[in-house]
Amino acid sequence: MADLQALKNAFIEIYGESSASISAFHAPGRVNLIGEHTDYNGGYVFPAALTFGTTMLIRPRQDRIIGFASTNLELRKQISIDDLSYREADDWINYPKGIVVHLAKEGSPVTKGYDLLFHGEIPNGAGLSSSASIEVVTAYGLLTLEGHPTDTVKIALLAQKTENQFVGVNCGIMDQFAVANGKKDHAILLMCDTLEYSHVPFKSGSYKLVIGNTNKRRGLVDSAYNERRSQCELAVTYLQQQYPGITLLGQLNLEQFNASKHLIPDETVRRRAQHVIEEIDRVLKSIEVLKANDLEAFGKLMIGSHDSLRDLYEVTGAELDAMVEAALKVPGVLGARMTGAGFGGCTVSLVHEDSVQTFIDQVGIEYTEKTGLTPSFYVCDIGNGVEQIGEAL
Ligand code: GLA
Repeated sequence: MADLQALKNAFIEIYGESSASISAFHAPGRVNLIGEHTDYNGGYVFPAALTFGTTMLIRPRQDRIIGFASTNLELRKQISIDDLSYREADDWINYPKGIVVHLAKEGSPVTKGYDLLFHGEIPNGAGLSSSASIEVVTAYGLLTLEGHPTDTVKIALLAQKTENQFVGVNCGIMDQFAVANGKKDHAILLMCDTLEYSHVPFKSGSYKLVIGNTNKRRGLVDSAYNERRSQCELAVTYLQQQYPGITLLGQLNLEQFNASKHLIPDETVRRRAQHVIEEIDRVLKSIEVLKANDLEAFGKLMIGSHDSLRDLYEVTGAELDAMVEAALKVPGVLGARMTGAGFGGCTVSLVHEDSVQTFIDQVGIEYTEKTGLTPSFYVCDIGNGVEQIGEAL
């Protein structure tokens, strides 16, 4: 967690003293444990909030200007509430700006200006949801200071809308939902079609979740993400011949899908759909085996997920595959897979606590040999979703 005193000093250095007090909020990053590329298909996901994320300090102003600054990104701006359109040159500021715009659209406009200082601990572009984290912390902080209710499911939906409509990234609901609704030591089982969810205790005993960042940047907008989405939509149109009522792949179970997949004429599209259906099934199996404390079985499901994302959905790429392959060679590793959208970004592995250092050393060496890139590792604990962490600083 960030050092609030140091952040307060930085805030005053940027914005100066004022009689109004400063409040602090935090939203985490997220790691998805299993259930990849299922959210926009109305399926299950199983993400968890990290203990690190984005801290935001906020102080009201007397005018209608919003100040945007960050401790780790150079660009700073002061923009009138009445002039908040998307501008490419505004870079990271488009995320909090988009939240202000969408709060107004949803009937909770900010009524005065604020100075904002963000402190981000999530590596950008690594697939750990740094953008969802900044969106959700902005919405939660502004709603709190404006005296509005802070319904974290509504905040997740607002943040997703901002990402889709203002930033222009066609993501599903998983990232914003996990960041807004995480709970310490729990993963979230979320049904993305209905948004029904439950917090499932993640008891990993002597095993640790280790995130490996390939340090190969992943660009969601430029990637094949949208193409995968369209292929899934196309699969639905074929399957509707047998199931006219369905609108999303996740509305079919494995048995129904296997009985109707011959209706999808295109082999690639069929493979994409097969991944989605089987991945949803893997999430449900994960919940069962975790309830029985069978971490080995969960590890196998993680491996199955990666294999499917590599062979059927084709979103892994050389770097993620090299890292997972190296991870699975280390004794004491139960499972490993890519996490997030793919095409770079991060892996997540379940590693015995006595093997963590060997894991980091061995995977680091083998990965660099294969790819020429230097990875980073984070041994992660599961933290809370968005929350207020300081008042009247
Ligand atoms: C990205 C998107 C999510 C989800 C994952 C893949 O993280 O933002 O909505 O689709 O990819 O599971």
